[in-house]
Amino acid sequence: MLRKGATGPALDPKKMAEKGLEYLKAVIFGGLPGGMPDWGRQGILSEKDTELMARFLLE
Ligand code: HEM
Repeated sequence: MLRKGATGPALDPKKMAEKGLEYLKAVIFGGLPGGMPDWGRQGILSEKDTELMARFLLE
């Protein structure tokens, strides 16, 4: 919630801007092999939710 990381890495805006919107959407929707859950594929977040979350990480 504070984006400092816990199980996963810290998600600071500067680092997120370098990764870009499309990368963030892909990670949030489809997860990562290192333990990031696939919120979209599990049906927890819709495409729209995913987009909003990705944009939030860039603010
Ligand atoms: C709304 C909730 C979450 C969002 C938006 C989110 C977003 C992200 C993003 C964008 C990355 C990639 C960071 C990078 O490439 O620098 C990431 C990685 C990761 N996240 Fe999450 N995350 C969330 C929740 C969680 C939760 C609840 C867990 C653990 C149960 C988790 C575990 C991880 C792990 C382990 C990674 C690194 C995976 C790897 O490098 O293979 N995340 N997360």
